[in-house]
Amino acid sequence: MTTACAPGKVILFGEHAVVYGRPAIAVPVTQVRACAMVEDGPLGQGVIIDATDLHLRHQAGDPVPATSPAYALEATVRNALQRLGIGGLPDLTLTVSSTVPIASGMGSGAAVATAIVRALAQHVGQALSPAEVSQLVYQTEVIHHGTPSGIDNTVIAFGQPVYFVRGQPIETLRVGRPFWLVIGDTGSQSPTKDVVGDVRRAWQAEPEKYEALFDRIGAVATRAGRAIEQGRPSALGELMDENQELLQAIHVSSPQLEKLIHSARTAGAMGAKLCGAGRGGNMIALVARAKAQRVADMLRTAGAVNFVISEVGAASSMSG
Ligand code: PMV
Repeated sequence: MTTACAPGKVILFGEHAVVYGRPAIAVPVTQVRACAMVEDGPLGQGVIIDATDLHLRHQAGDPVPATSPAYALEATVRNALQRLGIGGLPDLTLTVSSTVPIASGMGSGAAVATAIVRALAQHVGQALSPAEVSQLVYQTEVIHHGTPSGIDNTVIAFGQPVYFVRGQPIETLRVGRPFWLVIGDTGSQSPTKDVVGDVRRAWQAEPEKYEALFDRIGAVATRAGRAIEQGRPSALGELMDENQELLQAIHVSSPQLEKLIHSARTAGAMGAKLCGAGRGGNMIALVARAKAQRVADMLRTAGAVNFVISEVGAASSMSG
């Protein structure tokens, strides 16, 4: 029996614009994670995928629609086995569990796929580099999202803060001084594919306007990357607010997100923004350590169904 896990993630700066080649910054969030356990099954069993959190048990080879989670899980297994040089379908049971909220901007699909790829590789005694894992998980991301930038698979497979530009070699970010985030969940799911599709249509209708907005988002991400590396995290609050205004301008915020963002700022956060695709899912707030719990409590009062307090750049902490 072999088990492997992978963390969730949040995008600190640059979501959406990253799909159009601008830089973005993402960090792993270890308080939530996906795990996959591989066990050898009886002869002739084939591959069985048991995903408790998705209420799903799937026999590989059984027909499923391409939109079903089982399809993406089976594709992940098949791609990984092929990469590992294993022909056909061995007799395996794969049990998947995850505390990463689904369709909420925390990389649930990429975390599950990363855990599966790692568990299968370990089970057959092969080592895959983070870049190889990331590349396999990207193929699953394509099934989930259609046109992913690749930021989720990268930050999750590498397990480190990244400064990501589509198509360029991976750049991990050195965090000059640790800082604290409170991550609040609106509780409303918002499939990335839908929001990314809407942004694409808006960009096609008004390319100049959207290109200019993406440029501004990219410039914020670049400044943020410098502040993180130079150990000036206090500069990030204002940049988060600026990024949020730009996300509003591309119509990916929502009243619920706005409410949580506003509450976090009222409770003393230095800045706040949605994270991931938007329209629902999670938001993040930059906080001084001493104010983290107060901001989290305020988010709860404002309707957050869950929160995570996470330290970026050092060993991390609690959720509730
Ligand atoms: O919602 P998430 O966690 O899947 O993040 C999506 C990030 C986008 O920039 C909106 C899309 C992408 O592929 O980068």
